[in-house]
Amino acid sequence: MNEMTTIDRTQREYSQAAKDFLARKPQLFINNEWVDSSHGQTIDVEDPSNGKVIGQIVDASDKDVDRAVAAARAAFDDNRWYGLAPMERERIILRIADLVEQNADLLAELEAIDNGKPKGMAMVADIPGAISHLRFMAGWAGKTGGQTLHPYTRPTGSIFGYTSKEPVGVCAQIVPWNFPLLMACLKIAPAIAAGCTTVLKPAEQTSLTTLKLADLIAEAGVPAGVVNIITGNGHTAGDRMVKHPDVDKIAFTGSTEIGKIINKNATDTMKRVTLELGGKSPVVVMPDVNVEEVAPGVASGIFFNSGQVCVAGSRLYAHRDVFDDVLEGMSKTASFWAPRASLDPEGHMGPLVSKEQHDRVMGYIEAGKRDGASVVMGGDAPTSDGGYYVSPTILADVNPQMSVVREEIFGPVVVAQRFDDLDEVAKSANDTCFGLAAGIWTRDVAAMHKLAAKLKAGTVWGNCHAMIDVALPFGGFKESGLGREQGLHGLDAYQETKTVIIQL
Ligand code: NAI
Ligand code: MG
Repeated sequence: MNEMTTIDRTQREYSQAAKDFLARKPQLFINNEWVDSSHGQTIDVEDPSNGKVIGQIVDASDKDVDRAVAAARAAFDDNRWYGLAPMERERIILRIADLVEQNADLLAELEAIDNGKPKGMAMVADIPGAISHLRFMAGWAGKTGGQTLHPYTRPTGSIFGYTSKEPVGVCAQIVPWNFPLLMACLKIAPAIAAGCTTVLKPAEQTSLTTLKLADLIAEAGVPAGVVNIITGNGHTAGDRMVKHPDVDKIAFTGSTEIGKIINKNATDTMKRVTLELGGKSPVVVMPDVNVEEVAPGVASGIFFNSGQVCVAGSRLYAHRDVFDDVLEGMSKTASFWAPRASLDPEGHMGPLVSKEQHDRVMGYIEAGKRDGASVVMGGDAPTSDGGYYVSPTILADVNPQMSVVREEIFGPVVVAQRFDDLDEVAKSANDTCFGLAAGIWTRDVAAMHKLAAKLKAGTVWGNCHAMIDVALPFGGFKESGLGREQGLHGLDAYQETKTVIIQL
């Protein structure tokens, strides 16, 4: 507490490279060129570490969206990308990965000053993650095809039947602000590996690194029109992308609320849709664990990225025998997670992304207190020179009816509850409209597998949390989403299966 109030949260000076980037004219990346918007409207770029306006991006108009979609449509229809040798497409995607790696330092800094996450965290999580998506998916460009299949109801040899995987077409990809560059690469990589073309819109709060990525995409030799980057607001530019008749597929990551709207809007033209939405992921700590080892892991499961993570372990269920010790162990991490300005090299957690998110998270904490929750740690917004800081917070004495237990807070706030046995905790853990992820901490192998089978979640972690790897599918049960990203499943979401049947 005292340490948190004495931290100097003044933002550090930006590098010259970052200043130069921020001074660029707000433009859109269409057909591998930087172009002006059809109108002069812009959105302010803010540094969440101090709330200062540091630049502008274009707020794309309907005309701008149409222009970007037309570029992607033309690039798809004339086969300038899918028609290349797969080896060439793979090489180009790998080159994007190399360029991201070469520009890691600037990208991490831009992410820190745009999103508020510590630059050091961006260096070890966001940037390597982005690179891994590009490198993994690049390989699939040369490994797609189909199957030859024998008929069942016709004489063998009378029919030649085969399947062929083909790119879906033009994609509209809309991503959120919590892992901006990582999300952009996670979306673009499978799309272009499959041979699609795309228009991608980063979140209006965090567009800087995706704009820098556009430079690298052109430099890597991606043909014009294959990847187009437009910035702008969701309810205008995003909505236009979703409803556009020339778009074949939508990939969205963001709130469940907007995911539902997008899914409805996509229906008129039967667009293919993948949705990665919200969560309220349970974390179960069994009584056999070594609490000293496990408590810091449980704490990072919620406090990493200021809790602005779709899979954040935000509902803790600790067995009655270890409940107090787990909370005490987590409380010991308070100074490690104390929020600092994003360019402070000592920082592990930054501010929240925006005033809107700050007010929202503080609103939940206040609601929790009003409902009778007790604050075990944090619960406050540390003072600073205008930044959007929230202390890492643990709430106990909660019950399943409270909004802090039911709703996605998307901040560094965990609600802690006790349990007595496996069946009881599985039931409590599944008592939610979400089903994105869950965590189990135990050395009891049987308990681990029994519980993993019972939990309704797209990903279940054992003795770790938020471990994500591009080779492994990722997505949600229930209202946490539709479809899967990553791995072969992730590629498949960008492909149609064509069946060809020839009578011989
Ligand atoms: P959001 O879902 O409104 O925004 C995500 C993206 O969707 C942004 O690029 C935005 O421009 C776009 N968008 C917004 N409205 C749209 C529309 N009608 N049509 C097409 N695109 C649209 O999320 P927001 O408002 O920034 O955050 C609100 C809450 O959503 C957070 O507090 C958190 O609970 C949740 N969220 C979940 C994320 C996740 O990774 N699952 C990421 C971001 C937010
Ligand atoms: Mg919104």
